[in-house]
Amino acid sequence: MSASFAAPTPNAVPLHLIARAEAENWLAARGVAAQNAAKTQNWSGKLGQILCLTEQGLPVRLAIGYGDTTERKRKRFGVVAGLSTMPAQVFDLVESDQDRARDFALAFALGKYQYDRYAANAAPKAELICPEGVDAEKIEAIISGEFLTRDLINTPSNDMGPAELEAAARDLAKTYAADISVVTGAELLAQNFPLIHTVGRASPRAPRLIDLCWGTAGPRLTLVGKGVCFDTGGLNLKPGASMGLMKKDMGGAAHVLGLAKMIMASNMPVRLRVLVPAVENAIGGSAFRPQDILKSRKGLTVEINNTDAEGRLVLADALTLADESPCDVMICMATLTGAARVAVGPDIAPYFTQDNGLSHEIATAAAEVNDPVWQLPLHAPYEAMIEPGIADLDNAPAGGFAGAITAALFLQRFVTQTQKFVHFDCYGWQPSAAPARPKGGVGQGTRALFHALPRILNL
Ligand code: BES
Ligand code: MN
Ligand code: ZN
Repeated sequence: MSASFAAPTPNAVPLHLIARAEAENWLAARGVAAQNAAKTQNWSGKLGQILCLTEQGLPVRLAIGYGDTTERKRKRFGVVAGLSTMPAQVFDLVESDQDRARDFALAFALGKYQYDRYAANAAPKAELICPEGVDAEKIEAIISGEFLTRDLINTPSNDMGPAELEAAARDLAKTYAADISVVTGAELLAQNFPLIHTVGRASPRAPRLIDLCWGTAGPRLTLVGKGVCFDTGGLNLKPGASMGLMKKDMGGAAHVLGLAKMIMASNMPVRLRVLVPAVENAIGGSAFRPQDILKSRKGLTVEINNTDAEGRLVLADALTLADESPCDVMICMATLTGAARVAVGPDIAPYFTQDNGLSHEIATAAAEVNDPVWQLPLHAPYEAMIEPGIADLDNAPAGGFAGAITAALFLQRFVTQTQKFVHFDCYGWQPSAAPARPKGGVGQGTRALFHALPRILNL
């Protein structure tokens, strides 16, 4: 049974994708009734616009406008913009172009997401039979990973603290028979994860490091995701407006768990490891302070110049651990800086890597699967900005120049053995509803990575 697609049925309603330029001819070939319907429904083949042909009041055929190149460029997944207005029926796509059929099937499946944990929330009712020649299992893997990412981000912090994030990782491990171990609370100090402990210690919800392993053969792939289950900013408390969305600060963890799910669901032949430092950046008498100097797992000392730059701290210890074992490719994902959002907005995931081959594969795959990313530079002359003098590193350089870059340079200091390393600074949030992605948590870069991995890892 498929979760995303309907079983084939003789009652399915044919569905066509008709570009603006083809609209007139297509209608003429269908006859007067179709031409009249187009007139009364004011249908012109505009991207996502739905034309419903009926007989005795019942839909017998649908056409979705495929627009033109400009419209398709301007509106990502615009072809499913009208998904929620489609009748509650099973549709059978009539489309000979395989790429179009595949892209439509993916957009359709992505558009059926709904977050209904706390209130009934109607998902679009229309259903699609997986078009012939389209790899339903691959789309299922992508959808199950992406929906996990969205669910984890959307769940508010009261129900998504470090323990609940651990439970979600354990759930995932159970589904795919992965190994999982977790270091919690004071044990973090005993096992030398001082930064994870320090950031998380003011919260009554104990900090932890989650370590999931799956697969016995193939290249080694390690994913590291920022799991800050709520980011108040710490003693450098965020103003209300900036704190408002900070349930999503475990977005990096949600991204890597979603990507891991895609990898495991599709049985990718890799040795996968997922590391998630899960903490709550809270305030309290035991909170860490500005100007504290902390010694990291790697031995590098860090001066805290802002307790709100906590993500790079917990990631530093997790990346150090990841880098202690041989690893062919390491991917870090995090809602790390507000500067990334300022630079590229909520639609694009900026990424950083020194490896041009890796970068090329990611950018190429991103374009192929409609998951926009953009490389930002690890500009070496800015290294000086993260060196405070009194310690090896400064977690929050004054001046605020190039905030996403200095954060990425900071992380890079903790990865010295792994050659192929990439860090994504994701926003992880769709600010207002758009085709295939309702308002709320959303994966950025994970579909691109999933698509790129076989080429990156020579599978
Ligand atoms: N979680 C935030 C970054 C963030 C803010 C991501 C808004 C997406 C939207 C992070 O922990 C943070 O607060 N970063 C600071 C760093 C600064 C103090 C150096 C930032 O970007 O302002
Ligand atoms: Mn912060
Ligand atoms: Zn944060």
